[in-house]
Order: sequence, then C-alpha cells, then structure tokens
Amino acid sequence: MRLDILVLPLLASVSVARPLLSLGALTEWAFNSAQSLSSDVDDRSEQTIWEQLQADEHYTRLVKLLKFEGSILKDLDKTQDNNLYEITFFAPTNEALHPPHRGGRHLQDDEHTLATLSDVLETSEPWLLDDKGDDDDDEKKRRRKIFKMIVRAVLEYHILPFSFSGGELVHNKTYETALKIHSAIDGLPQRLRVEGTLLPPGILINWYARIVASSEAKNGHLHAINHPLLPPASIFDEVFFTTRWASTTASAVQRVHGNRFIDYSWHHSNESGKSGFHGAPIATFYTPSNEAWERLPRDLHFFLFTRFGYRALRKVLAYHYVPHTLVLSELVHHKDHDKKKEWVEDHLDAFADDEFHHEFEVHSGLGPKAPLSVVVDKKKIHPIPDGYHTSMTVNGVSVKGLDINARNGAWHIIDRVLCPPHHHGDGGDKLMDSEDPWADWQSWLPAWADEELDYQF
Ligand SMILES: *[C@@H]1O[C@H](CO)[C@@H](O)[C@H](O)[C@H]1NC(C)=O
Ligand SMILES: *[C@@H]1O[C@H](CO)[C@@H](O)[C@H](O)[C@H]1NC(C)=O
Repeated sequence: MRLDILVLPLLASVSVARPLLSLGALTEWAFNSAQSLSSDVDDRSEQTIWEQLQADEHYTRLVKLLKFEGSILKDLDKTQDNNLYEITFFAPTNEALHPPHRGGRHLQDDEHTLATLSDVLETSEPWLLDDKGDDDDDEKKRRRKIFKMIVRAVLEYHILPFSFSGGELVHNKTYETALKIHSAIDGLPQRLRVEGTLLPPGILINWYARIVASSEAKNGHLHAINHPLLPPASIFDEVFFTTRWASTTASAVQRVHGNRFIDYSWHHSNESGKSGFHGAPIATFYTPSNEAWERLPRDLHFFLFTRFGYRALRKVLAYHYVPHTLVLSELVHHKDHDKKKEWVEDHLDAFADDEFHHEFEVHSGLGPKAPLSVVVDKKKIHPIPDGYHTSMTVNGVSVKGLDINARNGAWHIIDRVLCPPHHHGDGGDKLMDSEDPWADWQSWLPAWADEELDYQF
C-alpha cells in the first residue's frame, strides 16, 4: 500500500461515469423519502447513532471498520444536552461493503472504497486488527497508521455536520461533509450531492448510493445506503473518466496541456522535490459534452483539433473555466472572498431562500472582459412534498449535469460549446446574436485566437 493512497483519485470512474449513464433519465423531481423508508420510530431515537449501528446486524462490517479506526465512533456516540451536536451519518450496509471481487487482494490505487478497505480487514490483512502495541515491528505500525488515516478520511466523507432527515436532505443539491483535504477548495469541506428520485421514489447520494432505510437517533440521523461513498477526485480526473459524456473535452484539455488548471493531485516525493498537491486547489469548469462538440460546424470541429487550431482551442476552453472560484447552484465561493465581501454576501442572501432566481457574473479564464453570466432558479414543486427543481444556465445555455463535486471544486456538463465574446471580421460589433453563434467562425476565430494572449488555460 502506498503512502499517497488517500489522495489519489478515488474511483472516479464509478463515482461519475457510472451514475451519469442514466443522466438522461435522471429526474429532477425530489421526493419525500419517508414514504419509502422503514419507519421504526419508538425507542431507537433514544439511542445514539453508534448504539444503533452496534445493535443492528446489517452493519457488522462497518462497525468493525469504525472500531479499528477508533476516533470517528466517538463522534457517532457523542451527545449534548441541548442538542447542539447533531450529525447525519450515511452507513453502508454489510451488503454494500462486499467488494465486487472477493478474495484477499491487496489494495490498489484505484480502489479506495470502504468496501475494499473492509475487505482488507476481513480477508487480506486481518493482522491490522490485532494491535500488539510496542511488540509490533515498525513496518506493521507504519502500515496500521496509514491504513487508519485512509479509513478515517473515507468515513469522514460519510458524515454531515448537521442533522437531516430524508425529507430535509432533498431541499438542497449539495452538502458539506466532515472531510477536508488540505487546502483543497480554499479549505472548505468536500461536498456530496443529493438527488430525489421519483422512480423508484427515494434519494440518491452522489448518483450511485441509494438510501435504503433511515432512522432518527438521539444525536442525529442515520441513513443506510446500498453503496459506499467515494470522496471526489479532481475535476480533471472526473472529466477524464466520464468518457461517455466528456471524452472530447478530456482530450481537448490534454491537447492544450490544460490539465494543471483543473487537476489537483498528489505528487510523490523524489530526491529533488517534496511531495505535495499540485494543480488548482479551487476551480469550476463548464464541460461541453461530446454532443456539444458534435454540434459545432464540422469544419470548425476539425480545425480546432488540428495543429493550426491549437491556440483557438486553448482560448475557447479558457472561456469555460472559472479560476479560483467554486460555483454551485446554491453556493459560490471565491478564493479572495475577504476582498470580495460584498460579492459573497450578495450570494449568501440570494441562496438562503427556499425558492430563488439569482443572476450573477463570474470571471472566466479569459479575464474580466469576458465574464460568464450564470442564472440559477430554484422552485418548489407543489404536488410533491419537499420537492424542489433547481436549474442553471450559463450564457443562456442550460446545464445538463449540474453540481458535480470534485476534490478541487465543481464541474457542470453543458450541451453547447460556449461562444466567447468577439468582434466580427467585418469590423462590426455584433456579439453572439445569430442563431448559431459559431456559424461564421472563419471570419473571426483565427484572428481572435491570436489577439490578447493573456489568459488562463
Ligand atoms: C521531483 O518532483 C517535482 C515535483 O513533484 C518534479 O517537478 C521533478 O521533476 C521531480 N524530479 C525528478 C528527478 O523526478
Ligand atoms: C440550503 O442552502 C442554503 C444556501 O447555502 C442554506 O442557506 C440552507 O440552510 C440550506 N438548507 C439546508 C437544509 O441545508
């Protein structure tokens, strides 16, 4: 097991690619989960989350991980008289923690699910549980320590620092968890995504983990889930692994060597350098889908991916990039938020309501002269209890995959390639007014690509 295991992409292929396969079918309807979940009320609410987990035979694998880790269970057991301390815990059941391939394998870099971690304790390295204190050799102590760190981080991603029932959870799209990764997202916690679904009625976490039962505890809410949660990978890794939706953008980014603007990953220590995180700690990326690139005029699509289109491609991608900023449908954070106090407070007010219409501009990688205009609408769906519909447009283009959390920010999928502001070759000042803004690209794009080269991407 390698030291950096904690910070490598955590199964980006599953956390994004698989769930997004059903993106088209994803309903934006939320649903009050209480109707589909077991409704044992009585004495359980007198127990803490930890007591409930221990008493339930469905959680034996998880309980073993928690006992091994040793500190998180104290949080799950903690109470305060005035209920100041309340949390939400997503608990993978025994079934969820059975790894896809059984049989004593060592941990691979791409498998940091609680399922694999559980399998290490159960099958391949059960000695980890048998702490002999000072009698263990140094290598064993080292491995146990690293393994505990990993388990702790992944478990922290299963905790929300507030208490939410299923019905409350569907109010917002994303929630902060208890997991923070170094200086990622300007020190903000990693987030998870909640989606209410109508068919079948219920709640999905991060698109792949379904809440299968819920109960209230003395110190918060416990939700059983049928898949362990995977802390997000960097924007670049997630885009890269979401091949079905974003493979063209992934190769465009690589083509112009733009990885470092949206990647944030751990680099090994070597003789000359120190190990640490490299890349952009906070960013947002509006990611054109494969379909978006197909929609461009054919000769333009071709041109962008030739040697001659290199600069144009880079500059077009820069327009989809929001540096130093996290943009979600209910949260906007800028790295220099202290200097931008007013700007941030405006957003706080706008997002606080149950329903809102909020229009704002964010700067793109092309700089202050080429901002993106974002519109977010959140509406209550009246026939459905606790149902909300949230939508976002950027420059009038509607976002198809909303609020995809990454270790270093967020990304959104759009079905158009955004056309940056430009002057027409004929000297006129027309800005993006024809039906297909790309139709006459030949008259401006090549010249535009060569002017003002001061941009980020
Ligand atoms: C050592 O790591 C640094 C940063 O991670 C990298 O830039 C450098 O090329 C590496 N040096 C060697 C000799 O591999
Ligand atoms: C939803 O998000 C808004 C804006 O961040 C926040 O004010 C509100 O408290 C959140 N609601 C819940 C249930 O977390």
